[in-house]
Amino acid sequence: MAPNPKQIAGERAADYVNDDMIVGLGTGSTAYFAIVRLADRIRREGLRVRCIPTSERSATLARELGIPLTSFAETLSVDVTIDGADEVDPAFNLVKGGGGALLREKFVATASRAELIIVDEGKLKQRLGAFPLPVEVVPFGWQLTQRRLQDIGCEASFRSSDRGPFVTDNGNYILDCSFKVIDDPPALEREIVATCGVVECGLFTGLATRIIIGKSDGDVEERTEPGPLD
Ligand code: A5P
Repeated sequence: MAPNPKQIAGERAADYVNDDMIVGLGTGSTAYFAIVRLADRIRREGLRVRCIPTSERSATLARELGIPLTSFAETLSVDVTIDGADEVDPAFNLVKGGGGALLREKFVATASRAELIIVDEGKLKQRLGAFPLPVEVVPFGWQLTQRRLQDIGCEASFRSSDRGPFVTDNGNYILDCSFKVIDDPPALEREIVATCGVVECGLFTGLATRIIIGKSDGDVEERTEPGPLD
């Protein structure tokens, strides 16, 4: 069977977890493999950890797999978080939130000493922006927030699901903002989060500490310093 790059990256990241760590559990199809591998290590090695999930989906998966959970009511810092991304640039800037979990993902990332980002090669981009940037907005007056975001220079599409509006774990909506190319990710992040009606945006700058890249030939590459892509 052909190697699965997401699985390779996810499993490698789970090996960075040690006893007594508080671990942030990411969301998405790549984070899934890290969570499964972590559960396996807890079962086989007796690894002692407590985890904070970044979504209800990951919380449910973790509970099903018997992973001990905790929350910010019990701890204010996280040792390591393992999460996916939709795009990664050479400076370790990220676009996240394709799965709609960006607010809790950023919340946990900002509390984490180490943020391990697990991706397949296709997520590496010279410049961010081809993937529409998810922005979480309050439902009240979202149409005005949409207009304000469009005034920044994007096409902002309201995210829907089969059952109507896509509603985040926090009861908010998502606007997927197509900028095509993002020239200055930190500046854009600041501008978007300063927009009234915006709760958080899927640009993550200055947070990733290690990028773990699963490859289709079964190899895995790890980057700890920003630098040019091959
Ligand atoms: C979830 O909201 C996202 O930030 C995910 O981490 C991101 O979309 C990557 O997902 P996949 O690993 O499923 O590609």
